[in-house]
Amino acid sequence: MNIILLGPPGAGKGTQSARLVEHHGMRQLSTGDMLRAAVKAQTPVGLKAKAVMDAGELVSDEIVSDLIDAELAAMDADTGAIFDGYPRTAVQADILDRLLDKHGRTLDYVIELEVDEDALVKRITGRFSCANCGALYHDTANPPAQEGVCDACGSTEFKRRPDDNEETVRTRMQEYRAKTAPILPGYEARGIVRRVDGMASIDEVTAAIDSIIG
Ligand code: AP5
Ligand code: MG
Repeated sequence: MNIILLGPPGAGKGTQSARLVEHHGMRQLSTGDMLRAAVKAQTPVGLKAKAVMDAGELVSDEIVSDLIDAELAAMDADTGAIFDGYPRTAVQADILDRLLDKHGRTLDYVIELEVDEDALVKRITGRFSCANCGALYHDTANPPAQEGVCDACGSTEFKRRPDDNEETVRTRMQEYRAKTAPILPGYEARGIVRRVDGMASIDEVTAAIDSIIG
C-alpha cells in the first residue's frame, strides 16, 4: 500500500501518518521532517533549506525528490509508504511517478484531508511536539494525558516549529493553493483520490482513513 496524504499546513498529515505507522506498520515519508532533521544536523541540504522553510516557501523540487528517492531505496519492498507533504508541485508529482516505478511500487490512494483554512491557523499556532520522540500535540485539541509529560516516551522536553507563526502559515497556505492543490485533478483523472473531512476529531479522521485503505 502506497498512499499520499494531501492537505494544507495543519490539515493533520503528520498526526494521521503516525497512526498509520502504528496501526498498519507503514512508513511515513515526510519531506518536512527530513528537511528539519537536515537543518538540525546542518548538512548542506539543511543549510540551503533553512531560510526557505522559515519563510514558508517551498524548497527545490530536486532536493526533496532526492530525499524521497533515498528513503525509498532504503525501504523494504513489503513496507507501505505514506507520502506526507510530498509531492507539493506538478514537477514533484511527475518525479514521484518515476520514483515509484523505479522502486517497483504503485500508488493506491491520494487521500485529501479537507479542512477549513480559518481553523488551520489556530491548529498550527497551538501545535507542539516532543523534543525526544517527535510525538505531535496541540495545546487544546490534543494535549498529553499528563501535562508536561510525553504520552509516548515520558520525556518532559517539548518544542515548537520556527515556521509555526501566523505570518509564515499564511505564506504556506498560499503556496499550497498556488502549487500543490493543482496536482489533484491529475490524480482524480486516475480515480485514486479519496476525500476525508479533516475537521472531524483526530479519531474520526483515523477511522475514515482506515475504511479507505481497508
Ligand atoms: P511540512 O512539515 O510538510 O509542513 P506542512 O505541509 O505545512 O504541514 P504541517 O506539518 O504544518 O501540518 P500537518 O498536516 O502535518 O498537521 P499536523 O498533523 O502536524 O513542511 C514544512 C516546510 O518544509 C514547507 O513549508 C517547505 O518549506 C518545506 N517542504 C516540505 N516538504 C516539501 C516539498 N515536498 N517541497 C518543497 N518544500 C517542502 O497537525 C497540526 C496540529 O493540529 C497539531 O497540533 C495536531 O495535534 C492538531 N490536529 C491534527 N488533526 C486534528 C484534528 N482532526 N482536530 C484537531 N486538531 C488536530
Ligand atoms: Mg506535518
